[in-house]
Amino acid sequence: MGRILVCGGAGYIGSHINKMLNEQGYDTVVFDNLVYGHRETVKWGELVVGDLADINALDDLFDKYDFEAVFHFAAYAYVGESVENPEKYYINNVSNTLNLLQVMKKHGVNKIIFSSTCATYGEPESVPITEDMPQNPINPYGATKLMVERIFKDYSKAYGLQFVVLRYFNAAGADPDGEIGESHNPETHIIPLVLDAASGLREDVKVFGTDYDTPDGSCIRDYIHVTDLASAHLLALKYLEKGGGSDFFNLGNEKGTSVLEVIESARRVTGKGFKAILTDRRPGDPAKLVGSSKKAKEVLGWKPQYEDIDTIISHAWKWHENRQY
Ligand SMILES: NC(=O)c1ccc[n+]([C@@H]2O[C@H](COP(=O)([O-])OP(=O)(O)OC[C@H]3O[C@@H](n4cnc5c(N)ncnc54)[C@H](O)[C@@H]3O)[C@@H](O)[C@H]2O)c1
Repeated sequence: MGRILVCGGAGYIGSHINKMLNEQGYDTVVFDNLVYGHRETVKWGELVVGDLADINALDDLFDKYDFEAVFHFAAYAYVGESVENPEKYYINNVSNTLNLLQVMKKHGVNKIIFSSTCATYGEPESVPITEDMPQNPINPYGATKLMVERIFKDYSKAYGLQFVVLRYFNAAGADPDGEIGESHNPETHIIPLVLDAASGLREDVKVFGTDYDTPDGSCIRDYIHVTDLASAHLLALKYLEKGGGSDFFNLGNEKGTSVLEVIESARRVTGKGFKAILTDRRPGDPAKLVGSSKKAKEVLGWKPQYEDIDTIISHAWKWHENRQY
């Protein structure tokens, strides 16, 4: 089996895929600038510390190794920051991705699996969201991901790039073995925030908006276990290896869970009481984001294993209690 390059593989999602690739017998090289990633997550394969902005470093990397395919997780992903400082996002998420594509082309590597997002859909007309629905991102972060999708289409036509774009909904949970987990700094994701509150690292957790048109008034999101995301990536690689055509897939749970339900689940799973502060809506938060993953199931043969929110939170909690980073 060939060697795989995992860009951004020291981050939350990339580290879980890196683990699974190694378990399946692939050799991996993780390329990460460690701006948001953690050295401790790279327990499998080799770590090369470097930045996608440095096209010469990429060129050297592709000279040194013969890659079969590239997994591309490296990006900035703070929606609020992308509104305040869009330049940072267009440079890192778009321009630096073009560096990677140029170097791949130069070295004849033509398979890429890319982390896109449900944020490319913006405010959906209806849920569950299917891949053919209009993509109208409402923030620069979502726009950068949509631009990369478009660049892939053009590269595919002109230069034969073979891609799978995976549009994740809310990645959640942790490695069921407890070896790696979710740690962003600053943390903005609801499950780690809630677990920080449960373990006393944070006084409380805020619920932004309780007057949405949803059964309990809080926002509904689609939580997808990070290990299920990892298995979809493996299937996407096998799909490209078998000559599957470039395509786009949603990865979600097809089931919405409200913010208040997440909090209830965390109280149940951890056995800890903690304060939830009900506060005003944040601008730009759609009431309900739920994805259809029918296409990934049918075309890639994906079968998520951990769909229940208590299971997702219990894996996150297991890691959270013994976290090293
Ligand atoms: N977490 C989610 O729920 C979610 C949802 C949809 C899409 N995504 C996308 O999935 C990907 C991974 O997300 P994550 O939550 O694991 O984020 P993360 O920040 O934990 O991981 C991203 C990694 O990329 C690295 N990186 C960033 N810019 C780099 C550069 N220029 N050169 C080298 N390394 C660089 C960071 O150091 C980090 O380790 C991102 O592209 C994100 O946009 C995440």
